[in-house]
Amino acid sequence: MLTVAVVGGAGYIGGELIRLVLGHPDLELAAVTSRRLAGRRLDGTHPNLRGTTDLSFVAPDQLGRYDVLLLATGHTETMHSMPDLLGRADVVIDLSADFRLADPAQYRRYYQVEHPHPELLDSFVPGLPELHRKRLVEADRISVPGCMATAAILALQPLADAGLVAGLVTVDARTGSSGSGATPSPANLHAERSGAMRVFAPSGHRHQAEISQSIGGRPVSMTATGVEAVRGVQVVCRVPVVEGVDERTLRLRYREFYRDERFVRVVTTRTGLYRLPEPKILTGTNYCDVGFAVDEQHQQVLAIAALDNLVKGGAGNAVQCLNIRFGLPEHAGLDFIGLHPV
Ligand SMILES: NC(=O)c1ccc[n+]([C@@H]2O[C@H](COP(=O)([O-])OP(=O)(O)OC[C@H]3O[C@@H](n4cnc5c(N)ncnc54)[C@H](OP(=O)(O)O)[C@@H]3O)[C@@H](O)[C@H]2O)c1
Repeated sequence: MLTVAVVGGAGYIGGELIRLVLGHPDLELAAVTSRRLAGRRLDGTHPNLRGTTDLSFVAPDQLGRYDVLLLATGHTETMHSMPDLLGRADVVIDLSADFRLADPAQYRRYYQVEHPHPELLDSFVPGLPELHRKRLVEADRISVPGCMATAAILALQPLADAGLVAGLVTVDARTGSSGSGATPSPANLHAERSGAMRVFAPSGHRHQAEISQSIGGRPVSMTATGVEAVRGVQVVCRVPVVEGVDERTLRLRYREFYRDERFVRVVTTRTGLYRLPEPKILTGTNYCDVGFAVDEQHQQVLAIAALDNLVKGGAGNAVQCLNIRFGLPEHAGLDFIGLHPV
């Protein structure tokens, strides 16, 4: 059994990591940190864990040494503690944004901070198995992409890698409320959030930088909107394409690109309620559904993707990376098919 510690385990991503580690046949949950809740039982904060663990949170300075550290602390926080944390495990998997971007100038631009450890940025491998599996096999430092970025990258990469993108990509992303974490704020009061369709980032959302980085630096303009859901992300990407791209070309391209991928399903049926990707049926699963539509009149493609922000958009992706790194079956602990109706 591999020993695993979760840092920042009181939040929503932390809770999801704990759930997945407890259900994993090859992992032992050794420690979970919280600064506020040290000494309190995990299931007091994450009630879905009742009856599955007797563990309590520990303070971050009580951490020992483990096979794997899973980091679920906030962005611009994790960057300061990373040098200390790297010494506490053979493999460190970071779910914050702090080691996702290769260029330190992007942290100034998108996070308004000077990165305290730019020398470490290059040492992290992007935690997206579908694109970086070969490097993940040997990676000791892994940085999992953001939830909306994961969906957009998986929708766009087949087009970008085939040289089909002909101009500015616009990403229209919708997200459920768990995307903003468990830390209370006026924006996540029920009275403010319920029924909302709130454009909280009309342009320049932080995940824009990750998407652009993944598709070879091509320009991306991203809008993010909070909608009436707890979990779930859906992105609709408008992609101007080179001449001659039709539905058949795209169907072949997407099928070929994701042919061997267990957790990416190409969803573009001609009829039916769920003929394009929708997060509703992905809750709790590690799937990202990817689909497309062609707008021939304007020579553009709509690349669409959906996922559960806490699973394939975060904790599930991290466990999939862990499985690859330790030579375990890639789907270990991630077999949940999903619910319908839900
Ligand atoms: N929510 C999502 O959909 C999602 C998806 C992918 C990635 N992410 C990323 O995952 C991370 C966690 O997200 P979240 O939504 O779970 O946030 P959250 O609910 O706010 O939880 C973050 C937790 O980290 C702990 N923490 C914060 N700063 C810390 C520090 N300096 N040292 C130690 N512990 C610290 C806090 O607990 P204590 O104060 O008790 O220590 C808090 O419970 C973020 O970086 C986020 O960007 C989130």
